[in-house]
Amino acid sequence: MMRRAKISVIGAGNIGGECARSIAMKELGDVVLVDVPNRDKPELHMPRGKALDLACCGPVENFDARITGTFEYADIADSDVVIVTAGVPRKPGQSRDDLVSINAGIVKSVAQNIKRYAPNAIVIVVSNPLDAMVYVMWKVTGFPAARVLGQAGALDVARYKAFLAMELGVSVEDIQGLLLGGHGDDMVPLPRLTSVNGIPIRDVLAEEKIRACVERAKVGGGEVVKLMGTSAWYAPSAGTIEMVEAIVRDKKRVIPCAAWCESEFGVRDANGGKGLFVGVPCVIGAKGVERIITFKMDETEARFMSESISHVKDLIGATVKLFPELA
Ligand code: APR
Repeated sequence: MMRRAKISVIGAGNIGGECARSIAMKELGDVVLVDVPNRDKPELHMPRGKALDLACCGPVENFDARITGTFEYADIADSDVVIVTAGVPRKPGQSRDDLVSINAGIVKSVAQNIKRYAPNAIVIVVSNPLDAMVYVMWKVTGFPAARVLGQAGALDVARYKAFLAMELGVSVEDIQGLLLGGHGDDMVPLPRLTSVNGIPIRDVLAEEKIRACVERAKVGGGEVVKLMGTSAWYAPSAGTIEMVEAIVRDKKRVIPCAAWCESEFGVRDANGGKGLFVGVPCVIGAKGVERIITFKMDETEARFMSESISHVKDLIGATVKLFPELA
């Protein structure tokens, strides 16, 4: 008998809650929301409350999904997919990298629990600084790299496309685009591979306007942080759910994700022969990252990519300094 996919969401905060809602709305599977007890208010059970609230959307939204909330990692047993949003979000004035000292410890403990209770799951990391946190997850779980991926490119490219569509006054559905590299400020713009329904973007938009959209996409997360005092959750969750859907429906979608690279896109040269997780176009299906699609970068793209890789390398170096066992 077929069973519904089981999708656990670690961290039932803003992104986690929105992910749970989208999973239910799209009927991608059953959801387990995991969080930690509130130290100041031990009488509360936030994940259970959020699950109850979401479950009551079902009759209105017409979805069948079992949504539960828990403090117990044992409840994630047999998960097909685990989404990790545990950690602190950015506050105004903070960069993603500033979160490393707190979030690396959190993601490490989450990874130990995933390894123990859901050893066959595909893990999508969302916690920041993303490119380092996905490395921590991989290192601690020891899972094959195909089953550990980071959500960054799906969001960055969505922001890029949204800003281009606003600038051009056309539907977002008609913008095709791709990005490489680290999350946000570190992303590698690819206007050469951006089009409006196949028409090269450079034929319809001036170079400085394209550059402005790229720059806005790079700092799009920071723009939201300044406006809200905390980081975004709707678009990050939309990007994550695009990846979850590709996995549970085995869609073979081509999505830029932080994936383990050893030689692709100049990683070998830029990182002294070692591999790392960085944003690249991946074929995402039931097995996780099923393939990385490579293509020849031009000189400018290769330079941007090399800078991006070098920053990701520094970030991992900073993480390993805090947790030498992750080297
Ligand atoms: N296990 C489970 N949940 C945890 C743990 C842990 N060890 N530590 C913290 N959490 C929970 C918090 O209690 C909180 O409910 O993670 C949740 C994070 O939710 P928010 O504070 O609302 O943050 P959110 O906006 O969802 O962002 C989460 O994703 O994009 C990144 O930068 C962002 O690192 C941040 C993360």
